[in-house]
Amino acid sequence: GTGVPGEGTPARERDVSGIGRTPLLPIRLRVAGRWRQVGLKLEQFNPGGSVKDRTAYALVEDLEDRGLLGPGRTVVESTSGNLGAALAYVCRSRGYPFVAVVDPRTSRRNLDGMTELSADVERVERPDGHGGYLQARLDRVRDLLASDASLVWPDQYRNPANPRVHREMTGPEILRHGQGRPDVVFVAVSTGGTLAGVAQYLRMVAPECRVVAVDVRGSVALGGPPGRRVLTGIGAGRPSAFARPADCDEVRHVPDAEAVAACHRLRAATGVGVGGSSGAVLAAAARHLAEHPDTGRAVCLCADGADRYEDTIYSRAWLRDQGLTDAASARPAFDAALLA
Ligand SMILES: Cc1ncc(COP(=O)(O)O)c(C=O)c1O
Repeated sequence: GTGVPGEGTPARERDVSGIGRTPLLPIRLRVAGRWRQVGLKLEQFNPGGSVKDRTAYALVEDLEDRGLLGPGRTVVESTSGNLGAALAYVCRSRGYPFVAVVDPRTSRRNLDGMTELSADVERVERPDGHGGYLQARLDRVRDLLASDASLVWPDQYRNPANPRVHREMTGPEILRHGQGRPDVVFVAVSTGGTLAGVAQYLRMVAPECRVVAVDVRGSVALGGPPGRRVLTGIGAGRPSAFARPADCDEVRHVPDAEAVAACHRLRAATGVGVGGSSGAVLAAAARHLAEHPDTGRAVCLCADGADRYEDTIYSRAWLRDQGLTDAASARPAFDAALLA
């Protein structure tokens, strides 16, 4: 072992059906005239295509540990997309039926992924007045639970198994890549589970490493004024139950347009396609590095890939409808290059 505390100990690091151990792709970002070293931890290499595979695995295992799953029981969860795809994968592999409560922003790719794995999909249609569909989805979950006693709800927004898996698995992986310890790690926030778990682990074993939470403008997950948002997978219409601003070293709110610009810049310059929350993370990293010229290695946790955004972030028609065409072609605050 490398002597990293926690290495090899938690049961979750074994037997996770191919989940985790995602690669760290070294790239360079040119920020304020200087090339800086950045590692992209590409969570799109999880079997379900996103960081949420880890969360889904932990949530199902938690329900099993609590004796809540078994013959005749069905898992139900609210998801804007990635957790649904991940839970569909984990539930299918464990033999549990799964009902996903989604909304109109859920991507075609994630919907197809869920139905291919035999999940039932329930879609709420009306936004909830908090800048999104979260409350509307949770109301639907509660209605379903009240009408069907066989349903079991892991509740990704409150279940401590969510941050725990990132403390026990995602955090240790970040330090174990063998390319030197990072000085700063950037993590996107929706439920705040990834951020809380990674921050707890790094505080414990690498307190000198800064943790930067990345949210989108208009999300209230870590405070800030509510507003219109168009990206999925990042942001929330209510505060995170897992993370507060004091749990990390810095919180950055990125405008949707800047996150979209970063996605396009990265793909054009390196061929690497990432999702909208990863675009926000890259944009935040570029700003942070510009303000901290002495910071060495940075790690960006990239929660998913471009595959599930071909009909949104990477679609001309969608960009036009959202008024983001200029953002996608604008010159962002950084240039990027593969290391080789
Ligand atoms: C693309 C993407 N990025 C980031 C996140 C944030 O994860 P968390 O809910 O742990 O804050 C999610 C979660 O849904 C996601 O799907």
